[in-house]
Amino acid sequence: MSASPGRFITFEGIDGAGKSSHIDALAAWLRQRGHTVVCTREPGGTGLAERLRELVLHEPMDALTEALLVFAARRDHLLQCIAPALARGETVLCDRYTDASFAYQGGGRGLEPAILQGLEQWVQQGRSPDLTLWFALDPALAAERRAAARAPDRFERLDAAFFERVHAAYAARAVADPKRFVRIDSAQGRDVVGQLVLDAVLARLQA
Ligand code: TYD
Repeated sequence: MSASPGRFITFEGIDGAGKSSHIDALAAWLRQRGHTVVCTREPGGTGLAERLRELVLHEPMDALTEALLVFAARRDHLLQCIAPALARGETVLCDRYTDASFAYQGGGRGLEPAILQGLEQWVQQGRSPDLTLWFALDPALAAERRAAARAPDRFERLDAAFFERVHAAYAARAVADPKRFVRIDSAQGRDVVGQLVLDAVLARLQA
């Protein structure tokens, strides 16, 4: 499956697609089955990366600066948190990873894919997720859900066209890598989505 003994599962989707509560539920389910689970997020997951997250989410900047900061955060996160946990044989559940950079900085902001591919190679050095759960939701529906939530950050304030592009970029990545991606239909009720998540993990990783 991968070079490391642990499993690396990432969660992706546009803001409002509702992935966060399912990460916690999956972690609880895996722990009940005896797995040691690390729940983390991007940008973030280490002291340095959380400071970079604050900048990315709240300071105005151009698309390339944004990409450089999320990949800098990712480098620290991978070295300090993700890779050591996987080497110990633990399961890492990460709320967003490099697919988010391709979707938001690439699809959303229009940054060239070649720049992101270069950063990906430098920063990740081949450490891709074993499984990526893409919470797919119609951007209009996601916007309704966002409107009912807390105060928006820099991304959540962006317009419908931005989220259409982000959604399309996720869809393209899922199609390009069907072995790694599982599409979760987030328009379903919470219980159904939770079951889809468990089914995907069981099917793909024999948890
Ligand atoms: P999110 O994961 O949705 O956290 P919360 O649930 O607290 O809102 O927010 C992180 C934001 O960062 C999200 O809008 C997408 C953005 N982001 C990027 O633009 N590029 C990236 O590479 C990553 C990891 C996130």
